[in-house]
Amino acid sequence: MSDGHTTARPDSNLALELVRVTEAAALAAARMVGRGDKEAADQAAVDAMRNVLDSVAMDGVVVIGEGEKDEAPMLYNGEQIGDGSPPQVDIAVDPLEGTRLTALGMPSAIAVIALSERGTMFDPGPCVYMEKIAGGPEIADLLDLDRPLPDTLALVAERKRCDIRDVMVVMLDRERHHEAMEQVRDAGARVRLIMDGDVSAAMLAVSDNSPVDLLWGIGGTPEGVISAAAIKCIGGQLLGRLWPRGEEERKSAIDAGYDLELVLDCDQLVSGDDVFFSATGVTDGDVLQGVRYQGDRGATTDSLVMRSRSGTVRRVSARHDRTKLRVLTGVRYG
Ligand code: FBP
Repeated sequence: MSDGHTTARPDSNLALELVRVTEAAALAAARMVGRGDKEAADQAAVDAMRNVLDSVAMDGVVVIGEGEKDEAPMLYNGEQIGDGSPPQVDIAVDPLEGTRLTALGMPSAIAVIALSERGTMFDPGPCVYMEKIAGGPEIADLLDLDRPLPDTLALVAERKRCDIRDVMVVMLDRERHHEAMEQVRDAGARVRLIMDGDVSAAMLAVSDNSPVDLLWGIGGTPEGVISAAAIKCIGGQLLGRLWPRGEEERKSAIDAGYDLELVLDCDQLVSGDDVFFSATGVTDGDVLQGVRYQGDRGATTDSLVMRSRSGTVRRVSARHDRTKLRVLTGVRYG
């Protein structure tokens, strides 16, 4: 768990270095779109991201990564990343958020990374899942994981001065959400089901002029921390509470000192005040466009690069020369 120890502050140029990292991962994964092999897609993204990360000027440690060292040879939790020079930072990565979406050629797969000062990222330990609720700044104070969902929807409609029938809740299409789906529908509101990718859904839920008002449901804890990093930059709120899958996981979490009743907000999930975030689209989605190949002209990427302290949100559209793609991603193009 984080020790709350803060050292040198990250420098602003890190934000723009990070976009190269997610661009590389997205460009590599995009070659695997629709190929039906989610492991290969993830591996391509991990390899490309790890390759570029080595050149970033930082002393980083992976807090949210691909798993424990014995399971993940690269970008494992605890791995030291960067060239070792200051600043000291915590790193959360999801080289391919939406492995199945990529394999099936479906929307909203992204490559993503977040950075914050050392010791400021929540380490979810043994807990794989978290209950989450997220929404934009206008309704941030209405979010509550204990209030019945229909009551929250009524409050959202009132705050937004709309009919409850206009309110849209995005949730992962999982059996564990069936009861909540029925509750939303019975209340007269609408549900947008997604196969995967609740980081991109959280970003959509907090964005201006979004077709979605609220993200709700049980999803990955790593994705919860990464979403919190994004929301600290965009604005809005996400509340999360660890959701152990069974007695064994509950016991390991309690033994490790986790409070399973605790509701964590974005500032507890990522307590640093200088958070950097970059995401690049792999497949087209509501938030980001996916990689587009342009024959001899290479390929284009669409990214969001943000920094919480300055509040800067940059949209970066880039064209990558075909000859450079191979160096960047290790994948042969053309
Ligand atoms: P991957 O890209 O790692 O497969 O994760 C996708 C995802 O849908 C996340 O966005 C979400 O938080 C999590 O999986 C949900 O887990 P599960 O599929 O086990 O319900």
